[in-house]
Amino acid sequence: MQINEPWWRHAVCYQIYVRSFADSDGDGVGDMAGIAQRLPYLADLGVDAVWITPFYTSPQLDHGYDVADYRDVDPLFGTLEDFDSMLARAHELGIKVIVDVVPNHTSFEHAWFKSALAAGPGSPERERYVFRDGRGRDGSQPPNNWKSVFGGAAWTRVEDGQWYLHMFDSSQPDLNWWNPEVGDEFESILRFWLDRGVDGFRIDVAHGLIKKQDLADLARYEGLVMWDQPEVHDVYRRWHKILAEYDGDRMAVAEAWTDSPEATARYIRADELQQAFNFHWLTAPWSAAEFRKVLSSTLEAVGLVDGTPTWVLSNHDVVRHPTRYGGGATGLARARAAALTMMALPGSVYVYQGEELGLEQVDVAPEFRQDPEYRRGGKVGRDGCRVPIPWSGDAPPFGFGPGTAQPWLPQPAEWSELAVERQLKDPESMLAFYRELLTQRRTLTAGIGDEVRLLASAPGTLAFSRGDGLVCMVNCGSRAAKVPTEAGELLMSSGEPLVEARGARRLAPDTAAWFRPA
Ligand code: NOJ
Ligand code: MG
Repeated sequence: MQINEPWWRHAVCYQIYVRSFADSDGDGVGDMAGIAQRLPYLADLGVDAVWITPFYTSPQLDHGYDVADYRDVDPLFGTLEDFDSMLARAHELGIKVIVDVVPNHTSFEHAWFKSALAAGPGSPERERYVFRDGRGRDGSQPPNNWKSVFGGAAWTRVEDGQWYLHMFDSSQPDLNWWNPEVGDEFESILRFWLDRGVDGFRIDVAHGLIKKQDLADLARYEGLVMWDQPEVHDVYRRWHKILAEYDGDRMAVAEAWTDSPEATARYIRADELQQAFNFHWLTAPWSAAEFRKVLSSTLEAVGLVDGTPTWVLSNHDVVRHPTRYGGGATGLARARAAALTMMALPGSVYVYQGEELGLEQVDVAPEFRQDPEYRRGGKVGRDGCRVPIPWSGDAPPFGFGPGTAQPWLPQPAEWSELAVERQLKDPESMLAFYRELLTQRRTLTAGIGDEVRLLASAPGTLAFSRGDGLVCMVNCGSRAAKVPTEAGELLMSSGEPLVEARGARRLAPDTAAWFRPA
């Protein structure tokens, strides 16, 4: 962190997937008190903030992204008092807390949706959602050809014959953001949590709220055509003003899946949000050329709006990155290298729980899968990145909860090797590497400036300097590659130290390193 900058600008933020982090009461599901108990672990890891996925009242059909009451904690996770104690404990430890807000849709158990169903066609209650008559002579065809992100039609018919739009599961009716009442309600929800003392919000499907108003059929099926509408930015201009009324640099980060870094950067214009997830790095394969492209286009786009970049490798919706990068020893070596590279960059970094342990995607057996993406679309679904954290011991539940109660998704037996307790004793472990990395990042990038300069480097590698204090190189190629002349003393490496060959210092494949500038 540099002097006088808002806390989030260079923050390392740790994503807690609440169901799977820590269970205090032995019901096999993570909860608020579980988070509170494990906060010292996160303080020791060196994170600046946590983002906690939705813990509000919900039938849990999309594990909390289907909210029935935005102003309460689901009994599964505890009470509002448990939330308050967790928040207070985090603040005592110097950790900021970001909560999730889900404005694109509610649960079908939300009071608004129930009254919309009861009130019938043409009522103001229905105007809070997107209800339409169907097509065809008897209205038995959906109003348009949009598909749900989770598979199948994006419309479900109700008893009186009308259809409602749901871009996700049928239990998640989309709100109608063209109706001012919806915006007012969310202003009040934001204030509810800001008044309780949260430091920021992660905005679910931030690009989705405003749908193309004519609801016209899509000619080509392209997920973003009906989303990322210009008017969505008016919502965030309003939210900017709300956040600014509070002290302590409150912030919001957009989950906006857009098709270019420029489109993502529009969410962080000076009068909008503070951050947007940069998914372009996460979707890039293990390739120096691709990383280079994402790096320069991100920095350029963010520069144009005078904003702060973010970096992220994994979250609860995607295949864990060691697996994406090839799995096994190779995947893990690349995961370390990617983390070291990312942490050299200016801006804020999001770490997904378990990546500091080197967890891989789990092949969850079909009978245990719970993701609506699996239920609706027959895709494998996202359960494999949501398996509860192994904390200690030699057998499941690995200290996830008290006693022997098994967690909501089964943990692989091999995870005994990866339990926190075990990794803390091993200086070569992924956890030891992350702890060292976060410490080094804090000290080595402090005050060095944010300017990134791409350096000429060997084929298959990416090298850049950051400010006047750091040179970073990552080798995505298949053989040891020459370190650029701009690199001085080696500060930290993700794997093997450098080798000397043919009169030059070389960096091994699947490895990244930090250097002092020469
Ligand atoms: C994005 C969330 O990250 C994901 O888990 C959820 O299923 C969808 N939004 C719908 O809320
Ligand atoms: Mg529990």
